[in-house]
Amino acid sequence: MSGRLTITQLAKKVGQGHKLTMLTAYDYPLASLVDEAGIDMILVGDSLGMVVLGYEDTLAVTMDDMVRHTQAVVRGAKRALVVADLPFLSYQTSVEDAVRNSGRLLQEGGAQAVKLEGGFHMLPAIEKLVASGIPGMGHLGLTPQSVNQMGGFAIQGREASGARRILEEALAIQEAGAFSLVLEGVPWQLAQLVTDKLTIPTIGIGAGPHCSGQVLVTYDILGLFDRFTPKFVKEYANLRETIGTALAAYREDVLSGSFPAQEHSFSMKQEQLELLGGEHK
Ligand code: KIV
Repeated sequence: MSGRLTITQLAKKVGQGHKLTMLTAYDYPLASLVDEAGIDMILVGDSLGMVVLGYEDTLAVTMDDMVRHTQAVVRGAKRALVVADLPFLSYQTSVEDAVRNSGRLLQEGGAQAVKLEGGFHMLPAIEKLVASGIPGMGHLGLTPQSVNQMGGFAIQGREASGARRILEEALAIQEAGAFSLVLEGVPWQLAQLVTDKLTIPTIGIGAGPHCSGQVLVTYDILGLFDRFTPKFVKEYANLRETIGTALAAYREDVLSGSFPAQEHSFSMKQEQLELLGGEHK
């Protein structure tokens, strides 16, 4: 039997008063580090497009990108539940597309669940996923795939009418059968209200301290993504600086001739060298 966490065990943890931890990963080494740190869930986020592939937003990420990176993450993570993002236009087009592409993320990618952005319009897709045996995680508030519709990466639900809609959509997503819900970029009071009203766990990102769990983009907390750092990110390391220092030292060593040294080199026996007609310098 696999030692991987299940959605049932995660719900039980929340019921016992524990917070859930979630981080993103996109490749084998980062996934194994996140897993070894004891994080409950790994999100193969379509933030991949921005932090790894260098796009301006998440819209260019394809199903093939997501399948390939999910496979690498699943190979690296032995214990965490792996949730893979459905990328832009892989599920908004029809319920059939949602099921087929979610199926790819589980069958080919090896994920245990999928995440999809959006509210009322996504209910038929969530219902069909659950009926097909595919655990679905909702995502409300600041939904990056709608960046053009929202007019930028803006905080959502600051006004009562927008907040009410998010609350109603959250309840409907739970009713449709989602096992959890990401709340991104919403006021903490709204996130607290939604968390209190729902029985499924909420996972916050830029949503204050009262959600059932938290998720962040790992490249942000490690200081690896330099284009911008949202206010809700806490930087736990500055790996850009650490890596930059290491790379500059390597360059210096090669230019000065101090690397490679004898201990990094292989040798051949003296008699073989003589046969070759060579000599030590
Ligand atoms: O793609 C992603 O990393 C996400 C998180 C920010 C929730 O959706």
